[in-house]
Amino acid sequence: MDYQRLEDIRRSKEIDAILITDRYNMRYITGYRGEGMYLYTKYGRYILTDSRYTEQAILESPISECVDITSDGYAKKLAELLADDIKRIGFENQSISYRLYEEFSKRLDGITFIGLDDSIDKLRAIKDEEEIENIRMAEKIGDEAFSYILKYIKPGVTEKEIALKLEYYMKSNGAEALSFDTIVASGKNSSMPHAIPTDKAFEAGDFVTMDFGCIYQGYCSDMTRTVAIGNVSAKQRSIYDIVLKAQQEALKAIKPGMKCNEIDKLARDIIRDAGYGNCFGHGLGHSVGLFIHEEPRFSMKCNTTLVPGMVLTVEPGIYLPGQFGVRIEDLIVVTENGYTNLTSSEKDLIIV
Ligand code: GLY
Ligand code: MN
Ligand code: MN
Repeated sequence: MDYQRLEDIRRSKEIDAILITDRYNMRYITGYRGEGMYLYTKYGRYILTDSRYTEQAILESPISECVDITSDGYAKKLAELLADDIKRIGFENQSISYRLYEEFSKRLDGITFIGLDDSIDKLRAIKDEEEIENIRMAEKIGDEAFSYILKYIKPGVTEKEIALKLEYYMKSNGAEALSFDTIVASGKNSSMPHAIPTDKAFEAGDFVTMDFGCIYQGYCSDMTRTVAIGNVSAKQRSIYDIVLKAQQEALKAIKPGMKCNEIDKLARDIIRDAGYGNCFGHGLGHSVGLFIHEEPRFSMKCNTTLVPGMVLTVEPGIYLPGQFGVRIEDLIVVTENGYTNLTSSEKDLIIV
């Protein structure tokens, strides 16, 4: 990352130093993937961590010094590092624990802590070419995993078995990790948006919702497809078509200048007008990057304006408790003229 961006934050907030405690922000700024904290001051850049990570921190980042806190703890080492003229420290009030905040306030006498709010998260919202390429690769692995898994979806196979096969496939084909716990939900379980895979065996007539993603070079992918087993009722087909239409209409409108909540509304209105407004509770989508859920989001509350380089999911759903649910999720990148869909898997209803 270009350190000028941190320097700009430091100056605009009129602070002498920035303390990063969120591990994704620390990774974004330094490249270092372990635990610890990052301190940026007018005089130097430091990673503070314990002995498990000191070697890794130096290898992975271009910092001037790695400070080993194993014996003394963070507060004492921070106090030692701070020059006399450092009086105002910007800290991540969104991610630090209250206990640590209390300790810092007590041990770092004479220092004023200023909340950074979402200033660092905002830096991450617009992805550069390399970040987009990594996300594209991660999503490609997801698409391939979806094609692969279709042949295993049949009556008698369990949710857990399919989740494991998806995960094994992604990790065997370039993924370094999963971006979140895989969701495979069938039949009645599919009405729970974040269902945990069970030993339930698939049955004819089930919808199976699969929501999964992986990490490639640190960057996450995220996609969902809902497929049917054997046959579908008229109601299942109609719900599927409403969700698909909601997604397609929202996708069509994505371009720079649109607000996130306007995109959310397009999909939400279609679902509401079809009579299922109270069956779509979650937001239409979220940004994706080093972490699976980033800002901005396609939600009713988020009025951020889209700009090229933002990467977000578009994932409407309808959930009917005790019956079934449908969600379809693509991952897009906002471009100069519209968007590019990073997900290429089929969306017309697949009946296996
Ligand atoms: N299951 C995570 C998501 O789609 O947001
Ligand atoms: Mn997902
Ligand atoms: Mn998602």
